[in-house]
Amino acid sequence: MAEATIPILEMKNVGKTYSQNGRAIEALRGANLRVKKGEFICLIGASGCGKSTLLRMAAGFEAATQGDNLMWGVPISGPGPSRGMVFQDYGLFPWLNVRDNIGFGPKSRSIISSISLGCKTLPTSTRTSFPAA
Ligand SMILES: Nc1ncnc2c1ncn2[C@@H]1O[C@H](COP(=O)(O)OP(=O)(O)O)[C@@H](O)[C@H]1O
Ligand SMILES: [Mg+2]
Repeated sequence: MAEATIPILEMKNVGKTYSQNGRAIEALRGANLRVKKGEFICLIGASGCGKSTLLRMAAGFEAATQGDNLMWGVPISGPGPSRGMVFQDYGLFPWLNVRDNIGFGPKSRSIISSISLGCKTLPTSTRTSFPAA
């Protein structure tokens, strides 16, 4: 079946160079990624290495300056309801928990009535007691 072989998300030799005050800032070069259905991916890297840039391109908020960003084999030309992005800071609703922040967009569009995350909610006592740094 074609659906099984086409990755949900594919980045092919993707690069992104920002232009800021006439200066070129290369954020990403030669990025390749294939995400298949059911996969759970973590992007790990030093601050400034281009993680957020890559995610913004997958979400369709930024266009690549080189290479191809594809979803189901189709070029990503902008944001769409098939992709959601939970922002690191000011885009979150502080009164909602992680599950409800993630579910907010799809719920408002009546795509789903509830969100099922593959993680267990920790009891409050566990969440509030962290080991000293
Ligand atoms: N909108 C932007 N304009 C100019 N430079 C940017 C912009 N966004 C990110 N950068 C630069 O691109 C590089 C990668 O940033 P970013 O993708 O935010 O990295 P990370 O998320 O891994 O910390 C950094 O040097 C950052 O300063
Ligand atoms: Mg970041």
